[in-house]
Amino acid sequence: MCGIVGLVGKKEVKINDIIDGLKKLEYRGYDSAGIAFSQNSHIELIKATGKISNLKEALKEEINTYVDIGIAHTRWATHGGVTNLNAHPHTDCTGKIALVHNGIIENFQELRKELKEKGHTFKSETDTEVIAHLIEEYYDGNLFQAVLRAIKRLDGAYAIGVMQTDEKKIVSVRKGSPLVVAYSEDFALLASDITPIIKYTKDVYFMNDNEIAVLNPGNIEFFDINGEKIEKKSTHIDWDEQAAEKGGYDHFMLKEMNEQPEALKAAITGRIKNGKSILSEINNLKEFITEKLRKIFVVACGTSYHAGLTFKYFMNRYSKIGVDIEVASEFRYMNPHVDENTLVLAISQSGETIDTLEGIRIAKEKGAKVITISNVFGSTIPRESHGAIYMNTGPEIGVAATKTYTAQIAILYALGAKIIELTQGSNDEIRDILKGIEEMPEVYKKVLKLNERIKELAREYVKFQHMMYIGRGFGYPTALEGALKLKEISYIHAAGYQAGELKHGPIALLDEQFPVFAIIPKDSLYEKMKSNLMESKARNANIIAITTENNNEISQLTDEYICVPQVHEALYPLAMAPVIQLFAYNVAILRKLDPDKPRNLAKSVTVE
Ligand code: F6R
Repeated sequence: MCGIVGLVGKKEVKINDIIDGLKKLEYRGYDSAGIAFSQNSHIELIKATGKISNLKEALKEEINTYVDIGIAHTRWATHGGVTNLNAHPHTDCTGKIALVHNGIIENFQELRKELKEKGHTFKSETDTEVIAHLIEEYYDGNLFQAVLRAIKRLDGAYAIGVMQTDEKKIVSVRKGSPLVVAYSEDFALLASDITPIIKYTKDVYFMNDNEIAVLNPGNIEFFDINGEKIEKKSTHIDWDEQAAEKGGYDHFMLKEMNEQPEALKAAITGRIKNGKSILSEINNLKEFITEKLRKIFVVACGTSYHAGLTFKYFMNRYSKIGVDIEVASEFRYMNPHVDENTLVLAISQSGETIDTLEGIRIAKEKGAKVITISNVFGSTIPRESHGAIYMNTGPEIGVAATKTYTAQIAILYALGAKIIELTQGSNDEIRDILKGIEEMPEVYKKVLKLNERIKELAREYVKFQHMMYIGRGFGYPTALEGALKLKEISYIHAAGYQAGELKHGPIALLDEQFPVFAIIPKDSLYEKMKSNLMESKARNANIIAITTENNNEISQLTDEYICVPQVHEALYPLAMAPVIQLFAYNVAILRKLDPDKPRNLAKSVTVE
């Protein structure tokens, strides 16, 4: 986790400008932050625990100082507690080298011991500090050469930015953690993603593992791990700065939920037309799909896993090819049954989740083909895959995934439809489902208008300490996602179950203090769900339900309910998603929590 930025310029910028860039990465971690800049040949280091606003306060008037070189960091703690000393940047013994790091150095304890024996003294408990001391050990007037030698000693993952007071440059390296660099006429910049950079230039370089960038004022030189110069191609980015701002909403999460009509449209544009999947991103895998494909294995985490589970229900119903699914942290250690006849589908909005990344690496070693669905262009998982489908929803800043979840489901259905078409031929029902996805932006406009009603429900249910979400069939992944959303942003204990499992244990929990949130569309399992509601009512549980419009009996079965428009049964996971998201959001607001920055979580999980 963590976010890093760095800038070196022909011109000077206010420290405030560097901090503004860092702020755009706050979603990557926010338990402490710090900045290093060079002044009169020595390094000034300012740090603060808590959010970046605390760092701004700690800088006092210095925030308006002009500098021509600086590196900054926002931290999500892994090694060492949340303290000022553990916050980055870290320096060496001379105080002339400063470094920011995102990742984990696995052999830091051995290195620390070795360096201590050589006389280095350490100020923090972090793994990062060893890198600064290693570079000091190798420094003889050339920062680039010292970094080159130091990184050869490191095991683990890193994106680093290093400066040394006597040299007006920043040396930056990537192995396993995201890193983007770019330059304009006056500046060279680095960051963990493009958002801090696009203010300066829209032409950026995505760094690959073991590549080194030397940022000079106004240009960048690229090298491989052996110190040989390499050429890199830049990528032009279309996003503007405003795309990443809150757009008038109180929170990014609220903005992003409300963007779903547009985001879903963007996700399916050029992929679904008149009920047909026209997904061109898998053209290079057509022969594999028609000739070799025997099994699909979905690998993902958290919300992306729930999107994958929805896809499994879809494929089980319509495809002859079996779909297996596992959370990535299990997949990578389970000796998964994948081979050259398997398509592994990685789902990751950030494109950087380390478990998913390691999962696809294992799958590739076993000969499987890998397709990734991601929202972050140029991120690692899609780049290491045989095919990548980008969601095109624009940046998602709120830590809780919302618009990327619904975009994932829509794209997965388009992908599933394409695979079915290639392997079994076209199918009228699937055509109807895809047409339904094309109509979903309009459905969303109606569903989002339910927010006032959802707020009322949140006011009534905020008093409870628990919530059990239940569903069947396509409703089950929605139940899991509802529970995840509630617990991650409102810190209320919530669990999702297959409604049929209630009687095998969870029903023992139900009473007047333990309500049920039922996903009960008018679908083929409606009658079964009704029985489960009755069982719950018999235990005095309060019941909220999301159901289909014109369900006349729902008021007798539940205490409260919300209706969404009627859609194909495979599409209720899409139609109902904004309701479970808005419910969790409103509960979090009533509990005076910041839904954009839930405690202990980060947007991009690049540590195991
Ligand atoms: C929940 C949430 C997380 C992510 C999970 C995987 O709202 O956002 O559960 O879904 O960390 O992240 P990605 O999709 O980036 O691999």
